Amino acid sequence: MLTDFKNQITPIDFNVVKEKIQATGVPSIGNGTIREIVKVANEIQQASGQRYIRMEMGVPGLAPPEVGINGEIEALKNGVASKYPMLEGILPLKKEASRFIKMFMDVDLPEACCIPTVGSMQGGYATFMILGNMDAQKDTLLFLDPGFPVQKQQLDVLGQKYEAFDVYNHRGDKLEAKLEAYCSRGNIAGIIYSNPNNPSWICLNDDELKIIAKIADKYGVIVIEDLAYFAMDFRKDLSIPGKAPFQPTIAKYTKNYILLISSSKAFSYAGQRVGLLAISPDVYEGRYSRLKTRFGNDKFGYTLIYKILYSFSSGTSHSAQYGLAAMLKAANDGDFNFVDSVRVYGERAVAIKALFKKAGFEIVYSRDLDDPLGDGFYFTVCFPGMTGAELVERLLYYGISAIALSGTGSDYEGMRVCMSQVGKDEFEVLGARLEQFGNDYKLS
Ligand SMILES: Cc1ncc(COP(=O)(O)O)c(C=O)c1O
Repeated sequence: MLTDFKNQITPIDFNVVKEKIQATGVPSIGNGTIREIVKVANEIQQASGQRYIRMEMGVPGLAPPEVGINGEIEALKNGVASKYPMLEGILPLKKEASRFIKMFMDVDLPEACCIPTVGSMQGGYATFMILGNMDAQKDTLLFLDPGFPVQKQQLDVLGQKYEAFDVYNHRGDKLEAKLEAYCSRGNIAGIIYSNPNNPSWICLNDDELKIIAKIADKYGVIVIEDLAYFAMDFRKDLSIPGKAPFQPTIAKYTKNYILLISSSKAFSYAGQRVGLLAISPDVYEGRYSRLKTRFGNDKFGYTLIYKILYSFSSGTSHSAQYGLAAMLKAANDGDFNFVDSVRVYGERAVAIKALFKKAGFEIVYSRDLDDPLGDGFYFTVCFPGMTGAELVERLLYYGISAIALSGTGSDYEGMRVCMSQVGKDEFEVLGARLEQFGNDYKLS
């Protein structure tokens, strides 16, 4: 816990914040997990009666699409709630998922290879479990960091190994040598990254995806592409079905891929916990003797669905599958521009970045190769002379909650700022709180 503060007259009562931080029992709240920060901010809000500017959790701040809700209502009225869903997914969802992948990524993928999961969280967990049991030598997952901290927690829960490096200084052509160095050791089963990246919002481009694919093919490594922010690189219009530009994807460049497609952010559907695994046919049909030893069947697709996903949750919520199917169909048919409905995050990022910069903060991941960073769901900031954990903890006294980069595998000090919960009506308060913080802590 921090003890030195430049000013104890803070926007939120200093003693209340201090007491609530102490009561968490977390040794360094600044390094706390997303859920720890959520909890402490809630408690301080309740005790102080003052609202926080919430920037810690990527909860979609927008209403879920009507078309999804109606799809679910109709399904519920038709009685799906009493019936177990098929493990491999309902047919309308498999059909629309396959179409979606064609329409928005220009990739042909059979319906059989599109499988619903309880969010991408479950899709990732199942993928990690199967990849960790396919080859005795390949027992490690490689993260292109910074990344989503819970995925490493999943590997810890599974008792599986991972390695990671911050990709920021290894962009472009430099990526090949770095990946080669890891994969040539022979222990890497899979490479995982999110694109756009949580938390930095850098976006790997097609040349970089080609490099990842080349190394994956060379060493028989499976690439897990996490598309939690599908089509949300707003610098390009990725929203028109069947028309370029498309969401960049590894699926264009290798047959060794698994895509995690989330409905949480792009479709504001986080509460329904429904996502998709899209598995390359070569991987899906692949046979691995070690899977047979471990799970009783050597087929990848079969093991994933009928052993692993079955064991986890006996399928994915029946009505949520219908809701997602309805949203995907509307997007595929050109009746619902899902990207337009979330573009507001990019607009917020422009305004909020300006407030941070005005108060003396700096953007940590500020470049996307030769371009300035795009404006999207997240960006990252630091404050001169402060670690990320110190910054997060001190900002709690100013009524601002966020998470430090320390848990994301970043090489840098700073914190992640999430746009989703900050409304326009809060910009003024945010600006004032940041300004006071900047004045209190600026290096003289
Ligand atoms: C990079 C990344 N992957 C996966 C997820 C989880 O997605 P879902 O809500 O579909 O489980 C998130 C959510 O924040 C994320 O940021």
